[in-house]
Amino acid sequence: MNLNNDIKKILVTNEQIEARCKELGEQIAIDYEDKKPILLSLLRGSIPFVTTLSKYISIPLEFDYMKASSYHGGTSSTGNVAISVLPASKLEGRHVIIVEDIVDTGFTLSTVVKILKSYNPASIEIASLLDKPSMRKVDDLKIKYNGFVVPAEFVVGYGLDYNELYRQLPYVGVLKEEIYNK
Ligand code: PRP
Repeated sequence: MNLNNDIKKILVTNEQIEARCKELGEQIAIDYEDKKPILLSLLRGSIPFVTTLSKYISIPLEFDYMKASSYHGGTSSTGNVAISVLPASKLEGRHVIIVEDIVDTGFTLSTVVKILKSYNPASIEIASLLDKPSMRKVDDLKIKYNGFVVPAEFVVGYGLDYNELYRQLPYVGVLKEEIYNK
């Protein structure tokens, strides 16, 4: 079985992701000069993106993680966001960049931002590989560093999953409907 056969079309190629991460990473390095930001990745989907993005951020930075889940295995967000891992670092007075694979309804990020604010960081910004603005259900989210805008289709790859599969695909693609309508 080859996972690539389950993909209807490729939306963002690996080359496009690499090039966009270079642009975003270089911009972050300028914006955060002397600020030693914390790249706070949301598990599990953001790992491929944070790995590629961080290669291009040439200033000192730290990594940390949180785990937030909202899909619970399906193809649409439930709005019921479960936080199961909190950051290990002390965030007070620090510059935090939340790293996400996709912003869909925005429920996950608005929950995460609310929690992070209680730690009194110096600043909070968002970096996301993908933005699906047509699905947004919260209106106060500003994504400072966005990779690509995608249409309202179910996408997998580069960290994004369907039932925990497809995360390792080196591109972002649309999953064939027959896979999730089975
Ligand atoms: C996905 C994705 C975002 C969130 C986006 O996470 O990684 O965190 O949903 O959706 P929202 O904007 O509608 O909240 P998921 O719950 O599937 O967890 P995962 O990162 O482990 O795949």
